[in-house]
Amino acid sequence: MLQKDVLAYLEQNRGKVITGGQLSLKFGVSRTAIWKAIHVLQDKGHEIISLPNSGYQLLDTSDGLSEQTITDLLTTQELGRPLEIHETLNSTNSYLKNLNLSELQEGYTVIADEQTSGRGRLGRTFASLAKEGIYLSVLLKPDIALQNISTLTICAAVAVCRAVERVCGITAGVKWVNDIFINGKKLCGILTEATVSAELQKVESVVVGIGINTGTIDESVKDIAASILQETGQKGLRNRLIAEVLNQLEEVYFDFTGRQEKDQVLAEYSEKLLFIGKQVTIKEIDKSYVATVLGVDETGALRVVLPNGEAGRVLSGEIVI
Ligand code: BTN
Repeated sequence: MLQKDVLAYLEQNRGKVITGGQLSLKFGVSRTAIWKAIHVLQDKGHEIISLPNSGYQLLDTSDGLSEQTITDLLTTQELGRPLEIHETLNSTNSYLKNLNLSELQEGYTVIADEQTSGRGRLGRTFASLAKEGIYLSVLLKPDIALQNISTLTICAAVAVCRAVERVCGITAGVKWVNDIFINGKKLCGILTEATVSAELQKVESVVVGIGINTGTIDESVKDIAASILQETGQKGLRNRLIAEVLNQLEEVYFDFTGRQEKDQVLAEYSEKLLFIGKQVTIKEIDKSYVATVLGVDETGALRVVLPNGEAGRVLSGEIVI
């Protein structure tokens, strides 16, 4: 499709001026067809300026999603292949879960520019302003027991931390189990949802949803959320960051599930774990209590020690700050 091709070419030449003539020659269409494609891309929010008598330039700050650009940056075998990009969805997790998952291959990925009902853990909402974040869900089909499902959240957390460090140059930490923090504020949340075969008591498929704040922060969470823009002053990184999250997630996931390198992944997660050795409040479904954080075990459970010296394991719940 012409629009996708033009966008991908401008992406490859980001910041440079490309003439209408060059584009029309490259894609074998008229300059008018190029002009029309550029207009559609501009309407979709891509910051392309038309310079009279000279050409078109995709600005460094342009942050529009581009399937071609993401795909070009992928080094994966499975994740992000294929990739669906939507302008708006209620929730990428809900959308993906409603597809016929048994027919889809592992790695199937859904991304939205905006979510109207972004979901978080424990029934919370995840503020998902249009074009101001990354909202993506990946389908995994691991051979793991239901009680170990949070290990996939751990894989995703390690992948996001690595990707944010490589693409944006910032070091983030993890608030067990699913929140990525930077300077005391939440940059990213992860929602891992499994479909289980009741008959076999086996995990059939898992949807890992990742939400990263990249731009302007929603008013409702401005005191507790961080964003890439706020932390680094950089815009225009969404495509690169999406590709790197998928690249890293595949590596970590394969390490964890296939190549018997669980300990390494858990060690990397533990290094990033916030509050180690600190006394915090733990909230489980039916109770809250104070405990000191020790680390995580191989199932992803939080290891703690209670004030009376007793050791504890938190399977599901959260650290309250
Ligand atoms: C949390 O903070 O508790 C988890 C937030 C997870 C948000 C992501 S955005 C993509 C995917 N779709 C959703 O509705 N939620 C996840």
